[in-house]
Amino acid sequence: MERITTFEQYQQAYKNSVENPEAFWAEQAELFTWRRKWDKTLEWNFNEPDVKWFSGGKLNITENCLDRHLEKRGDQTALIWEPNNPDEAAKKISYKELHSEVCRFANVLKHNGAKKGDRICIYMPMVPELTIAVLACARIGAIHSVVFGGFSFKSLSDRIQDADCNIVITADGGFRGAKDIPLKSVVDEALEICASVKKVIVLKRTHTNVIMKKDRDIWWQEEMEKVSDVCPAETMDSEDTLFILYTSGSTGKPKGVVHTTAGYMVYTDYTFRNVFQYNSGDVFWCTADVGWITGHSYLIYGPLLAGAATLMFEGIPTFPDAGRFWNVIDKHKVNIFYTAPTAIRSLQAMGLDFVKPYKLDSLRVLGSVGEPINEEAWNWYNENIGKKNCPIVDTYWQTETGGMMISAMAGITKTKPGFATLPLPGIQPALVDEKGNELHGNNIEGRLCFKFPWPGIIRTTYGSHERCRETYFNIYKGYYFTGDGCRRDEDGYYRITGRVDDVIKVSGHLLGTAEIENAINEHPDIVESAVVGFPHDIKGWGIYAFVICDNERKDVDNLKSEIIQTVTKYMGPIAKPDKIQIVKGLPKTRSGKIMRRILRKIAENDLANIGDTSTLLDPSVVEEIKIGAVL
Ligand code: WTA
Repeated sequence: MERITTFEQYQQAYKNSVENPEAFWAEQAELFTWRRKWDKTLEWNFNEPDVKWFSGGKLNITENCLDRHLEKRGDQTALIWEPNNPDEAAKKISYKELHSEVCRFANVLKHNGAKKGDRICIYMPMVPELTIAVLACARIGAIHSVVFGGFSFKSLSDRIQDADCNIVITADGGFRGAKDIPLKSVVDEALEICASVKKVIVLKRTHTNVIMKKDRDIWWQEEMEKVSDVCPAETMDSEDTLFILYTSGSTGKPKGVVHTTAGYMVYTDYTFRNVFQYNSGDVFWCTADVGWITGHSYLIYGPLLAGAATLMFEGIPTFPDAGRFWNVIDKHKVNIFYTAPTAIRSLQAMGLDFVKPYKLDSLRVLGSVGEPINEEAWNWYNENIGKKNCPIVDTYWQTETGGMMISAMAGITKTKPGFATLPLPGIQPALVDEKGNELHGNNIEGRLCFKFPWPGIIRTTYGSHERCRETYFNIYKGYYFTGDGCRRDEDGYYRITGRVDDVIKVSGHLLGTAEIENAINEHPDIVESAVVGFPHDIKGWGIYAFVICDNERKDVDNLKSEIIQTVTKYMGPIAKPDKIQIVKGLPKTRSGKIMRRILRKIAENDLANIGDTSTLLDPSVVEEIKIGAVL
């Protein structure tokens, strides 16, 4: 398939995409199998918001991920699976086999009452069946809602309830490093408060004992025996919902980001092939969990649409030792490797002895995603993993954008450490000031918006279109607002400076401070809490919690560990605070609003720049907090 191969071609494509976006994207859409061609390429209005791509078109994304490849590359590998334990055999699944498994599981879903439009929650470990489950939903037109396996029962039940799911697909447990994760028992706990769920399909993975509820819980392996592997794909409209994926927001409740079929397909395929400069036959490895958007777009859909071999890894980078990533790259001869800065920094900290035993000579392109990559980590990645021979693409995007937005194209765009570089074709960034005025020219800093739709853009937030409008389209009129600060330098290169709202990127995971506070407040002794981020050497950002306790507990260390347990229980281990400070009061304005700006300065140990505290109800609390700060 065609792709851009020179910088001049990129510039030309960019120009075309801005001057005539419809023709530009229609040409990309022509590459796919359609049951009916679309009538109108784009209709849009950012005020509603109402964005439709390829309306009138009919298709099924799994026909494009699977059936379309059968004739030419049916026997080629679609999925390489590397287990948590290196002593267990890896698996290679061809396009033909994946097609057959997806069809079979699609029949299992139908057999258990699933139909087009139903919401199905997937809460699974990183095993091939996770990919199969995702694609099987899409095959029958059911909407998948994947929940990251590291989330706790409360986060899971919130998401199941919000989307009103009728089926949950899970496993008895999952292997992660030296740990077993008891997925099924988390599901059981979550379902105590989710009446909508009628069936739970359970994959046997860890073979731990689980309780199977009669008439509700069934085994994956047994169900697969009962059905055939012939399952014609459901005909979907271009704008039918493909999936919901929850992401954290400034308020406590996560938002169900909705992506639809055709635009998402065209966009993930285009960005995958061009940014990574994918060549037919390449082995591609994205280390993200399918529970996050990166796993959706660049472990499953993008690579399979392109006909690539996509690698899925069950385990963690440090098991059995910190050389595991490099071991897997050599073992499977990975050509393109895509990971997060947190992983790079943590492996860098383990020392080069874990890298030296490996050749890494199959690598051609390296990618980074999820958070700003600092120069030191960029250089380490470049020198020790890429051997100064592999272009690095620092890809900036979001759950809501569906695919990469600002990124180099590997080997084509000149890179600068710390810069996501330039917008991809079709992407029109705008930096605005706090009032929403666009800042023109170079050498400026502002808030990052996009002023024109691209095919992968969020369509709505599930259950509340108004929330989508308010969060993304109403803050700066006429723009989609990302929530990120950004600099455009003298060369027109973009550097993301970080979030400007109340969410924190911890180890590349987006967490809402309000959500963490809600979890902390579940502790019976805590009356109120305020969470802010602070710069962290490995994780990018760490979590600092200021908490008010309603009785004079002397055993502060116990209290702190109870708080950590509470957060783990209600939200998941990824949201555990790194620092906890017990305080008597929080800095509030007279109207009762917590002034987080002040707390952030304290957490960052930037006491000199706390600024004006005179508008506070009780400025003395700031002094008290400063004295007790955990630095
Ligand atoms: C941040 C992940 C700097 C940013 C794909 C964004 C980045 C948020 C980069 C979305 C990058 C993502 N450089 N920051 N290359 N990529 N971000 O929804 O703050 O989990 O808004 O999507 O991650 O996180 P999300």
